[in-house]
Amino acid sequence: MTNMMTHLITLLFLAMLFGVAFAGAGDMDICNYEVWIVDQADSNNGTALIGYGGYIHIFNNSDFNRPHDIVDLGAETAQLCFQRTGAYPVRPHMLLFNLAGSHASLSFVASGHVVIFRAEDRKPLTCFRMTPGFNGLRQAHAAVPTRNNKYIIVANQNGKKVERINVDWEREEFVHDLNATLALYGNCTTPNGLPCESPDMRPDNAPICTPTLADPTVVFVTLRGGGMFVLNYTKTPLEIVAEYDNSTIGANGCGGVSAQNYMYINSGGGTTSNLYEFKVYKLPTTGYSSTNVPNTPVPKSIADDSTGERDAHYAGILYNKRTNPTYFWQPDRAQSVIDVFSFKSDKFVNRIDLKATNLSADPTPDALVISPTMVYAFVSLRGLTPLSADPHVSTGSSPGLGVLEVKNYGRNARLASITSITNIVNGTNRADPHGLDLRVTSDFCDVARTRHRLLLRNL
Ligand SMILES: *[C@@H]1O[C@H](CO)[C@@H](O)[C@H](O)[C@H]1NC(C)=O
Ligand SMILES: *[C@@H]1O[C@H](CO)[C@@H](O)[C@H](O)[C@H]1NC(C)=O
Ligand SMILES: *[C@@H]1O[C@H](CO)[C@@H](O)[C@H](O)[C@H]1NC(C)=O
Ligand SMILES: *[C@@H]1O[C@H](CO)[C@@H](O)[C@H](O)[C@H]1NC(C)=O
Ligand SMILES: *[C@@H]1O[C@H](CO)[C@@H](O)[C@H](O)[C@H]1NC(C)=O
Ligand SMILES: *[C@@H]1O[C@H](CO)[C@@H](O)[C@H](O)[C@H]1NC(C)=O
Ligand SMILES: *[C@@H]1O[C@H](CO)[C@@H](O)[C@H](O)[C@H]1NC(C)=O
Ligand SMILES: *[C@@H]1O[C@H](CO)[C@@H](O)[C@H](O)[C@H]1NC(C)=O
Repeated sequence: MTNMMTHLITLLFLAMLFGVAFAGAGDMDICNYEVWIVDQADSNNGTALIGYGGYIHIFNNSDFNRPHDIVDLGAETAQLCFQRTGAYPVRPHMLLFNLAGSHASLSFVASGHVVIFRAEDRKPLTCFRMTPGFNGLRQAHAAVPTRNNKYIIVANQNGKKVERINVDWEREEFVHDLNATLALYGNCTTPNGLPCESPDMRPDNAPICTPTLADPTVVFVTLRGGGMFVLNYTKTPLEIVAEYDNSTIGANGCGGVSAQNYMYINSGGGTTSNLYEFKVYKLPTTGYSSTNVPNTPVPKSIADDSTGERDAHYAGILYNKRTNPTYFWQPDRAQSVIDVFSFKSDKFVNRIDLKATNLSADPTPDALVISPTMVYAFVSLRGLTPLSADPHVSTGSSPGLGVLEVKNYGRNARLASITSITNIVNGTNRADPHGLDLRVTSDFCDVARTRHRLLLRNL
């Protein structure tokens, strides 16, 4: 063992012993990590966008100014999907790592493909295509690795189905388990005997996002028209263990994060018929059962701002000493701000304005992720020609990776830099950054952190 390593380990040991906070101290990020950000515009061939593909730009924490790697999804990934499904993958939308950060799950919203990448060598291992719904449509809006490490749950948005891929990350075995599919329309009924989709209480059951927990083994399925289902993802087919109507949970949420015994769920705008919505709910992590009456466990409303042009989208939780949740962040894509709420009191305490540092007139933050030591947060900043959500809210002026410096354990932050993401066709930047996630690459982090990702070998 080198002296340097011994020194680091001693430091980490002392830090754990005394609960020293690295976060917010402006010190170096001792955890190494990569940030992957997805340009959902097609791959380009110099004169045109080719109609499929896209790019993943991979940054590492030693240099946020230029990507360390760029994966062209129009190449090997597109060929793999074509070979497996007879169709090219279109509009790479959300990218999420499994807990270990060893593999990424990338959903293509327009074509309905899900591709799984081995993170280390960026290799696409497999490609599945979701199944059409009653209307012949299919989409993969989000493909979320579950926290029990056994599944990926896919929100087949316009197909109005939730689908499941069974995974073994260590053996790299993946099965699209059609027996698990839950269609949220037609004769689908809840355990209470109510219709899953119905004009008066859940008018449009296109599933949007499916954030998960490990214990209990549930996903929270937000719906385009409002209302929500909580599903037991280990059951075949997926089982409804809570149902909410649209007067209890609002429309079009995509932002679910949990800490301790709470799960935050939001509700946003971004669709043509529902441009603006800004709601945040806090739910317990326990109490889900198929015997519950509708709208239980009861969500607590943390924010409900219908006064302006607001669009709650994505979410984050900040920590003190890495383990104690301090603040909940609710970004607003329309106003380019982040509303900060106390984790403990649920009170609104601050508004971070991404325009304040004058780096961009209209940042338009979409996805958000926070660095393991809480020194930085990253946002994907949307493009001039947005390819998803209504352009009224999703058009940005500075497509790129936004780097925020976090202050006071997350009570505040400033947009410190923007690294442009480009996809130039005939002199015009067509890049539209959207999907974003972070994976830890050094083992040291996992020694120090208790709340973070476990390495596979610890399972
Ligand atoms: C780019 O320019 C070429 C040559 O002028 C033209 O043929 C092509 O249609 C242009 N592509 C786009 C997307 O405008
Ligand atoms: C680029 O792609 C466009 C659209 O698919 C195609 O018309 C054009 O021939 C391609 N150009 C080159 C150089 O491959
Ligand atoms: C991070 O990027 C730098 C420069 O791009 C490179 O030298 C270094 O090896 C990278 N680190 C990792 C862990 O990939
Ligand atoms: C789905 O069910 C069929 C019939 O019971 C079974 O043969 C098949 O193995 C199941 N598929 C999976 C992935 O479990
Ligand atoms: C629901 O409808 C589908 C398609 O019409 C049918 O195949 C299925 O058997 C029905 N399920 C139940 C429980 O009635
Ligand atoms: C989910 O199903 C599993 C069995 O597959 C069961 O052990 C667990 O208690 C269920 N959890 C909930 C919240 O329903
Ligand atoms: C629920 O949806 C119905 C049908 O779209 C609508 O009439 C009703 O106003 C919605 N309720 C709320 C609270 O938004
Ligand atoms: C941003 O611009 C405004 C208006 O010109 C100015 O008042 C403010 O000081 C600037 N802020 C920074 C951080 O440069």
